[in-house]
Amino acid sequence: MNRREASDWAQQVSRRIKEKVGVVAARSQGIIPFTSVEGRFDDWTDKNLCWWTNGFWAGEMWQLYNATKDPLYLERAQEIEKKLDGNLMNAGGLDHDNGFKWLLTAAADYRITGSKESRNRALLAADNLAGRFNPAGRFIRAWNDGGDGSRAGWAIIDCMMNLPLLYWAYRETKDPRYLQIATLHADTAERFFIREDGSANHIVEFNPATGEFVRTYGGQGYGEGSSWTRGQSWALYGFTLSYLHTGEAKYLNTAKRVANYFIANIPENGLIPVDFRQPLDCALEDSTAAAIASCGLLELSRQLPEPESTLYHRAALRLLTTLERERCNWDLACDHIVEKGTGAFHDERHEYPIIYGDYYFVEAVWKLTGEESFMW
Ligand code: GLY
Repeated sequence: MNRREASDWAQQVSRRIKEKVGVVAARSQGIIPFTSVEGRFDDWTDKNLCWWTNGFWAGEMWQLYNATKDPLYLERAQEIEKKLDGNLMNAGGLDHDNGFKWLLTAAADYRITGSKESRNRALLAADNLAGRFNPAGRFIRAWNDGGDGSRAGWAIIDCMMNLPLLYWAYRETKDPRYLQIATLHADTAERFFIREDGSANHIVEFNPATGEFVRTYGGQGYGEGSSWTRGQSWALYGFTLSYLHTGEAKYLNTAKRVANYFIANIPENGLIPVDFRQPLDCALEDSTAAAIASCGLLELSRQLPEPESTLYHRAALRLLTTLERERCNWDLACDHIVEKGTGAFHDERHEYPIIYGDYYFVEAVWKLTGEESFMW
């Protein structure tokens, strides 16, 4: 598919997205979906207001608002942003995923509407994220624990996607600490997460007192030393974003290494497994990894001259057209779009719709049509 054909294809898909999401948003007042049950979105407001995915539907609403200017989407996005104040005021419910939650809600609102209240929320979230930095190990602590410190030394590759909240806060305030923390973490991630072959660890544990490397964990992937595909996607897109915000060539090179590894591992059918190193007789899939990687590849393609640009653009189109053909549900009676996402390899449940699959699919299509509101 050449660029012209890709753009025509994306225009068609964009029309289908607008038709479907318009209907779904109209019937989804006040909810924060994670998945859908029998085709209807669930609501995580009371289930877990602090869950890391709670910004994605709002982010999708902003993308639709940017493309259509229909105030319905603005209302939906702002409803969620306000609800998340309950999370912002709950210290135990804040972690490194402040980026996912407040880039797609408050920071997006501020960028689009100029709301001062939203800017304030995003800065509070950025300060809390910066406060998770461990100076001895030069990493941002990922998750909380019960207060016993058992996860005080854990960093995870996903955090590369949270760094843009710090890059944003740096641009807003001109305080270099945000930039220093983001780049120190990115440097640590390059050194300890990205392996020689371009694959990425999910979890790295450091001694939180001395900063020394302790060990790696398989995390949400198959096992230690394996290659959890969503983690590879976070690394691919995350290092591309660190390049975009800093202009540091080392991050671009790392993004390319991860992208080359990812592309070399795409199965013949173009559908992405949960882990590139899961047993050969295991067909478990994670469509969300494909959607996220598509965004990363398209953004990477924009940063590079030919012929590399076309290489990454083609790889993204291969993933996206496969997702559209095989995994998108366009039935207007069903709330979700992308099917067969998987949270983690060892979860009991696999291959179900997950809201970030929809978000990144829309973002990727918007990158091709030029309708994107840049969130990161
Ligand atoms: N950031 C958590 C996940 O990707 O599941």
